[in-house]
Amino acid sequence: MGAANVLGDAFYQARRDDLAHRVKRSRFEHSLGVSETAARMARVYGQDERLARLAGLLHDWDKGYDDEGIRARAVELGIADQLASYLDMPHLLHGPTAAAALAREFPELPAPLLQAIRLHTTGAVGMSPLDLIVYVADVIEPGRYCAGVDKLRDMVGKVELEELFVATLVYVVGNLIERRKLIHPDTVTVWNYYVARARERAAANDAKGSK
Ligand SMILES: [Fe+2]
Ligand SMILES: [Fe+2]
Repeated sequence: MGAANVLGDAFYQARRDDLAHRVKRSRFEHSLGVSETAARMARVYGQDERLARLAGLLHDWDKGYDDEGIRARAVELGIADQLASYLDMPHLLHGPTAAAALAREFPELPAPLLQAIRLHTTGAVGMSPLDLIVYVADVIEPGRYCAGVDKLRDMVGKVELEELFVATLVYVVGNLIERRKLIHPDTVTVWNYYVARARERAAANDAKGSK
C-alpha cells in the first residue's frame, strides 16, 4: 500500500473497524470526535485535513491496555528506554507505544502523523502544527463535557494555533494540579517553552503597537 493510500477512505474505514475492537465504546466515540475535530482544525489552520483526521482516529490506538499491559507493550516494541520517565504515569505511555506499534504494522504511515500520535500525551518542545492540532482536538472534541472546554472551542480560528495550544495547556495542567495529579517532566518543559514564546510574542506586539 502506497503513501497516498493510507490517507484514503478505505484505509480510514479499515482502521476505524480495527479500533472498535481495540478500545471500549466511549473511547471509540472519543476517537471519532478527535478525528472530526482535528480535520476541521486542519481546514481552519491550513494543514492537511486527511492527515489530521487519520491522526485523530488513531491517537488512542493503544488506550485499551491496563498499566501492566502498556509497560509490557513498551518493552515488546523496543521503547522500554522511555519507561523510566513514565514510571508513575503509565497512562501516558499509550502515545509512544501507539506510534511505535502503528509504524511497525503500517510502515506506509507518514512520519508526521506518527509524531503527532507519539506526542499527544505529554506534548514536546517545537511541536508541528499537526502535533498541536491533535493535542488540542483531544481536549476539545464534542464528546467532552467539562467546564472550561467551551471557551477553548470558541477560540478555534479566532486565535493562532499556538495561542490555542497554550490556552489548552493552561486548562490541562491546571486540571492536573487541581486534582493533585503528577505532571510528566516533558509537559513542564513544554509549558516553560511555550509560555516564554507567548510572552515574547506579546512583547513584540507591544513594541509594534507603541511605535
Ligand atoms: Fe490519549
Ligand atoms: Fe484521546
